[in-house]
Amino acid sequence: MNQTYLEEFKNPERILLGAGPSSVHPRVLQAMTKPVIGHLDPDFFQVMDEVGEMLRNVFHTNNFMTAPLSSTGTGAMEAACVNILEDGDKVIICRNGYFGDRLSDIARRSGAETIILDAPWGKPIDINALEHELKKHENVKMVGVVHAETSTGVLTPLTEIIELVHSHNALVLVDAVTSLGGHDFRMDDWDIDIAYSASQKCLGSPPGLAPITIGPRAEEVINNRTSDVQSFYFNLKDLETYWSQTRAYHHTSPISMTYALRESLRMMMEEGLENRINRHAKVASALRAGVSAIGLDILSDEEYRLNPLTPVCVPDGIDEADVRRQLLQDYNIEVSGALGELRGKVWRVGLMGESARETNVFAFLSAMESILSKSGYEVAYGASLAAAQRALITFDE
Ligand SMILES: Cc1ncc(COP(=O)(O)O)c(C=O)c1O
Repeated sequence: MNQTYLEEFKNPERILLGAGPSSVHPRVLQAMTKPVIGHLDPDFFQVMDEVGEMLRNVFHTNNFMTAPLSSTGTGAMEAACVNILEDGDKVIICRNGYFGDRLSDIARRSGAETIILDAPWGKPIDINALEHELKKHENVKMVGVVHAETSTGVLTPLTEIIELVHSHNALVLVDAVTSLGGHDFRMDDWDIDIAYSASQKCLGSPPGLAPITIGPRAEEVINNRTSDVQSFYFNLKDLETYWSQTRAYHHTSPISMTYALRESLRMMMEEGLENRINRHAKVASALRAGVSAIGLDILSDEEYRLNPLTPVCVPDGIDEADVRRQLLQDYNIEVSGALGELRGKVWRVGLMGESARETNVFAFLSAMESILSKSGYEVAYGASLAAAQRALITFDE
């Protein structure tokens, strides 16, 4: 055995243009090198308060219980479901991709009767179909919807869905893992009851924390539960005691990760949320123009396209995985393959957080031109770069 673990890990310098994690700014990495202090140290409480305040800004909410869970996005999915749902409750989960499917699985495991509303992968949720389900099933407690379906690159518009769900006296749960910080997201104005995200996408931190926010209706439902939350770790009432003035120990906070999130949120505040969302829109427009100039299709319909993630269709005769391998090996660029039924048919190109930079769009497009051309696909060299350049200029006009 060659015991490579005895040597220091030599990090490759990747450009992370996949579905997450996104690249992390050196300032954020640097914040993680600060000495660890205790999770009950008053100075750490200040860090927690600042992170809470900045997260409330990012979610556009006054919800007190707005905090990062010690988990990735999936943990926050679990937390939302197990805290709201009890045995025998009815929940509708809107499923138009892989993460809606995961949410439905977690809701079912939480003991709820789980009604699935399907929409084709690549399309948003159909509000008329949701209305039909809400009329068909009485006493639905919650409707879960993925705002930005990272598996398909589709953004489902939320405001009308939320109004409809509330008119049936149900709560609205929103997965904002890929939208928060990359698209407009307004917890209070849109009247969302419970939402969560993840640190590693448009928020610009490494993976490991999952911000969650709980509105007044959801708080009330949680306060009036008749059964215990089956998860100790994700019991939001207990976690709230640690994040509130009580500061009661619940579990040991991931201190260095919280430093990182604080720094990445601070960078968001410096940039301004609107500017940041605009930056995501601008680079996405350049990417789309570039891939279209190469002659590649984009899976999602124009009016429902996600900015942080573009699903690029693999042309006939091209080996999806081989292109990704070449991007990684020869250009240090990571993009993602597709999940579930889209596997092998789509590349998922992410421009999230620190990765959402114009230079990354040009690096990706020129690498794709070379790789595809070597694979026998006819490419007009430079055309995609010119198209991207034009899109950037027209975006500002
Ligand atoms: C929309 C969405 N929800 C949930 C998740 C799960 O998050 P994680 O992988 O951080 O557990 C992801 C991850 O990509 C996602 O894109």
